[in-house]
Amino acid sequence: MARIEIHGGVPLQGEVWVSGAKNAVLPILVASLLGDGPSLVNNVPHLQDVTTTMELMGRMGAELSINDRMTIEIDPRSMNLFEAPYDLVKTMRASILVLGPLVAKYGQARVSLPGGCAIGSRPVDLHLHGLRALGARVEVRNGNIEAYADRLIGNRIIMDTVTVTGTENILMAATLARGTTIIENAAQEPEVVDLADFLISMGARIEGAGTNTMTVEGVDNLRSTEFSVLPDRIETGTYLVAAAMTGGRIRCTRARPAHLDAVLDKLSETGAQICVGEDWIELDMQGKKPRSVDITTAPYPGFPTDMQAQFMAMNTIAEGTAVVTETIFENRFMHVQELQRLGADIQVKGNTAIIRGVPGLNGAPIMATDLRASASLVLAGLVADGVTLIDRVYHIDRGYEIIEEKLSGLGARIKRL
Ligand code: UD1
Repeated sequence: MARIEIHGGVPLQGEVWVSGAKNAVLPILVASLLGDGPSLVNNVPHLQDVTTTMELMGRMGAELSINDRMTIEIDPRSMNLFEAPYDLVKTMRASILVLGPLVAKYGQARVSLPGGCAIGSRPVDLHLHGLRALGARVEVRNGNIEAYADRLIGNRIIMDTVTVTGTENILMAATLARGTTIIENAAQEPEVVDLADFLISMGARIEGAGTNTMTVEGVDNLRSTEFSVLPDRIETGTYLVAAAMTGGRIRCTRARPAHLDAVLDKLSETGAQICVGEDWIELDMQGKKPRSVDITTAPYPGFPTDMQAQFMAMNTIAEGTAVVTETIFENRFMHVQELQRLGADIQVKGNTAIIRGVPGLNGAPIMATDLRASASLVLAGLVADGVTLIDRVYHIDRGYEIIEEKLSGLGARIKRL
């Protein structure tokens, strides 16, 4: 099994380009199944989750092709199986996103019910509630969600909790429903907006994306389209934290700074100097250590839960003490014990972690447990003395494109074994 080896201690310097956003490309690929013809999706990141999504759509009968510039063409006209089986859903929870498009366009869906997950219980009750409100008959049987509808009918849906993929599932379903759907307490994440823009380019009528109320006027058909996926704000943030932790100076290109306000505010608090242009961000730590920063995760535009682990890693070596509070997922501190193996001083009480900055970390063998936790371990390895060896790096490959190449390009001593 692949491992990543890092010799820490090099301040990162240079330029790194940002890939297309994982959390936008997955719903967009799946949304292409709503169209009456082939669609082209550009700026697709080379990630394991994208491969899994392609396999899922291919098994359903969609025709897919990919060129070497990472444009994917999806032709849904040959779809003949409306199922997401357990072997794929268990490796990628986002498979649940096929539910809305399948039932809206093809009148039927069987999707294996996602089980528990390393970061929390992650129920999908609100996805099912929303589809039922649109008139789908939904049952859970033999570990599968089964949903049927002749044609969905628009409705007003109030989401109890802000859920990203829940909002996306209902949004996709509503595009082909008869009449008007209003989604209240909708997720406002940039990836939801990107999905809405993709659907609009197919002919969907959506208003209010990026606010907490979205209105969808259902249409009879959606057409094929060509679309470019937005840059990954979490990948961007991860490289910026890497630079801040190592006292380095980097520029992220092909980025979308406006999507990182909460993250950039916190990075400024660490003492980093930050400059932004239209599509780039430069961070300069001027060889200093970062100051500790408190973090509380929240739905967008709040501080993203997907950046919590990386900021925790930074706080382990920062000047001072930080309090990190996780409000989205109940068990998203799996990285704590691995960071402790490197010498971090972290105490966890419920959903809060108190991190006292230590003078330095020491390299050790550690294990990746989930996607963003793994990123935090790579960051810790970049500052640890000696060698850090990270096992189970397949978690990283789900969400970071060529991470060791990108970090090597910034001067890090990192390689895949
Ligand atoms: C998405 C992102 C993930 C990110 C998360 C939070 C994708 C593919 N994944 O995950 O990277 O960490 O948003 O920003 O885009 N909830 C319910 N019932 C539901 C659905 C969710 O109670 O039916 C709760 C969850 O338990 C959690 C909260 O809502 O506490 C947010 O989860 P949600 O936004 O749905 O996460 P995902 O969409 O799975």
